[in-house]
Amino acid sequence: MGEGSILIQEVVWSSQDYIQTLGLRYEVLRRPLGLMFEPKVFDLEQTDIHVSAKFADWVVGCLILTPHEKSVKMRQVAVSNDWQRKGVGAKMVVFAEALAIKNGFVEMVMHARDSAIPFYLSLGYEINGQGFDEVGIPHHAMRKNLVD
Ligand SMILES: CC(C)(COP(=O)(O)OP(=O)(O)OC[C@H]1O[C@@H](n2cnc3c(N)ncnc32)[C@H](O)[C@@H]1OP(=O)(O)O)[C@@H](O)C(=O)NCCC(=O)NCCS
Repeated sequence: MGEGSILIQEVVWSSQDYIQTLGLRYEVLRRPLGLMFEPKVFDLEQTDIHVSAKFADWVVGCLILTPHEKSVKMRQVAVSNDWQRKGVGAKMVVFAEALAIKNGFVEMVMHARDSAIPFYLSLGYEINGQGFDEVGIPHHAMRKNLVD
């Protein structure tokens, strides 16, 4: 049950896999903060790029890329509790960067939870500016050039 058996792929908005990512995002990102899932996000995400990590039929990780001009914002990065620290998150980010480059984007940006900063630093991201609060917890903006 290692990271090698994980399949990273693009997910079609509103597909079965996409619905599974909504459940994962609630469990990993919202429920621990006492937040509900907001159904209105569903429609707003139609134009985003969705990525999942699957073990057999199960979605164990996901992230979203939201394009903005030549940059792309990576958000909603989540790995299920049982699968954390097994390389799944890193594999998804590497996949997302390649996808972004293929689509002509030159920079990846994000609002990282402070608890996840070591993860992004390990993948070559840098902190950009002062910290701030989002969803009630501390964050920092982070970024990485996708092209030299
Ligand atoms: C943050 C998260 C996406 C990382 O995914 P992951 O699959 O657990 O991370 P990986 O196993 O790919 O970690 C890759 C490297 O990042 C670093 N890293 C990851 N989590 C870390 C942590 N909590 N503390 C320190 N370093 C960490 C390590 O260098 C790690 O390599 P190593 O395990 O060989 O030491 C995942 O843990 C998660 O979903 N956390 C809860 C939700 C969250 O915080 N999402 C991000 C919001 S911005």
